[in-house]
Amino acid sequence: MEKPKHHIFVCASFRAGGDPKGICHKKGSVDYLPYIENEILDRGMTDVIVSSSGCLKGCDNGPVMVVYPDNLWYGNVDGEEAIDTILDAMENGDTATDYLIS
Ligand code: FES
Repeated sequence: MEKPKHHIFVCASFRAGGDPKGICHKKGSVDYLPYIENEILDRGMTDVIVSSSGCLKGCDNGPVMVVYPDNLWYGNVDGEEAIDTILDAMENGDTATDYLIS
């Protein structure tokens, strides 16, 4: 298995007890996972994987998405347009500055 170059974490708001109670989940972040996965495949971004995560502690800017190893923290990722902008930037080796929160 080849290790991915980039790992996208999408906040699914899970807390220690396992309940998805946070802002990101309420704003539909979990529903974006299949879209991101399909976009990665459609774009041939074979060196990128996506995972759901627990609360990333950026709730005020939810839904939050982080790209490693770039350490890019994106907020208000609230739909396909935002995701496309971020993935476009990744493809171009760029940063989607409109969504940066850190
Ligand atoms: S619930 Fe997503 S950052 Fe806290």
